Amino acid sequence: MMRTKGSRLAPPRADGTIEALRGLGYTTESALADLIDNCISAGAREVDISFRWMGRESWISVLDDGCGMTDPELETAMRLAETNPTRPRNTSDLGRFGMGLKTASFSQARRLTVASRKSGESSCLRWDLDVLAESDDGAWLLLEGPRQSSESMLADLEGKKSGTMVLWEVLDRIVSEGFGEQDFLDLIDRVERHLAMVFHRFLDRSGRMVELRINGRSLKPWDPFLSWHAATWRSPEAPIGGGASRVVAQTYVLPHKDKLSEREGIDAAGPDGWSSQQGFYVYRERRLLVSGSWLGLGRGRYWSKDESHRLARIRLDISNASDADWKIDIRKSTAHPPARLREQLTRLAEDVRDRARRVFLHRAQANASTGRGAAVLPVWKSEMKASGRRYRVEREHPAVRALLDEGGDVAARAEGLLRVLEETIPVQRIWLETAESSEQPRGGFTAAPESSVVEVLTVLYRNLILRKGVSPDAARRQLLATEPFDLHPELVKGLPDEIAE
Ligand SMILES: Nc1ncnc2c1ncn2[C@@H]1O[C@H](COP(=O)(O)OP(=O)(O)OP(=O)(O)O)[C@@H](O)[C@H]1O
Ligand SMILES: [Mg+2]
Repeated sequence: MMRTKGSRLAPPRADGTIEALRGLGYTTESALADLIDNCISAGAREVDISFRWMGRESWISVLDDGCGMTDPELETAMRLAETNPTRPRNTSDLGRFGMGLKTASFSQARRLTVASRKSGESSCLRWDLDVLAESDDGAWLLLEGPRQSSESMLADLEGKKSGTMVLWEVLDRIVSEGFGEQDFLDLIDRVERHLAMVFHRFLDRSGRMVELRINGRSLKPWDPFLSWHAATWRSPEAPIGGGASRVVAQTYVLPHKDKLSEREGIDAAGPDGWSSQQGFYVYRERRLLVSGSWLGLGRGRYWSKDESHRLARIRLDISNASDADWKIDIRKSTAHPPARLREQLTRLAEDVRDRARRVFLHRAQANASTGRGAAVLPVWKSEMKASGRRYRVEREHPAVRALLDEGGDVAARAEGLLRVLEETIPVQRIWLETAESSEQPRGGFTAAPESSVVEVLTVLYRNLILRKGVSPDAARRQLLATEPFDLHPELVKGLPDEIAE
């Protein structure tokens, strides 16, 4: 470029620039996701990620069978910010900044080799931070071909008609002091969970578009919405706004834990656990950017992630034409809703939060045991009074009735006891301890031995038959629809027809 009078050329030094870019805040999993974006944009059908543990010589590679690049295209791809972020992109293009390949790679590795094949010709170029650091003038010295010792790692590309291979070596940000083989294996697991989530809509059985493999093993999609489960609640899809910045939203309430098997419950939680994975899931061209966040929305103050809303998840689809609106970052891991959509998104979230909270608090009332979705008689009732919320014991519950029906002194003392319990129920403490332990409060004799459930059941059953003249069948039916015995249908059904006086 010509230098005009009164101006200076001030290019940055290569080594310093790249060293600075290493700190953008990628994790290994988000950096790999950035490479997979490029494979998908290049139309790849199969992507193979390889992790090789060799101590400090360990390496990671990503091989795709996409369209590949010619030598000049590869050179452009290796340059930082060669494409202007303001340029409109095809909807199948997951890129934006012309940076990802470089920034993601340097965040993990000091040596980046990219080999590509197109129209039967192969090209290979390489950045090496150690070589750049040795140069005095800070030049952007792009090296041709692989390092001799790396040639064999690139061999798999040669078998392809077209495609690209990215090789990360000198993994100084991964294999640091004290990092061992087990840590490497744990890292592979984390990467697998992350990619199964971020690209689940590309891996989906119904619309499988790309096969992702890690060390030869195919990734299965992780669907945050459990959309295959019969007990998942979902709203219809709702468009928000119009034109290119149109957003499509769909809200989901995941099933209560009682409706999930233990395995399903663990799987559904997601890589970061139930509580962290609530909120909005923002997808850009079906690629997940944000996996569970309330996006700084809320009334009065920002909503935080709490236990009682953990079943709420919202799918938001945005297009790559609204990148600037949503302040998409290079790492493709943040998104901020534009001001004009905030009110609508808040209303949407309020509704689903409310539903999710009710499902969370509702202890499997329409339980499978009664089969007919009959209402179950609770022990505790929550009542809203002018003075605030109160918790009361249901006087019609058979265990309570059995005492109150005694009348006289027994009934008076029982009533006295109930009033004391109701006035002193440690709501604050239960709330705090539940929130801190991130576990659901236990109930329904969850941890009690079967014999103790039977013992209580038998007392009530006898009382119903012997003192109230209820038939054994009717007594069993009543107990099946009564907390907490609704959760133990087998024990109720096993109560004998004949009972001794
Ligand atoms: N696996 C690949 N196959 C074919 N072309 C690729 C591949 N990876 C990168 N490229 C080319 O290199 C270019 C630069 O990639 P890079 O990831 O740095 O930026 P980007 O994808 O354009 O934008 P972003 O910074 O948002 O990721 C891409 O636009 C693409 O043309
Ligand atoms: Mg990219």
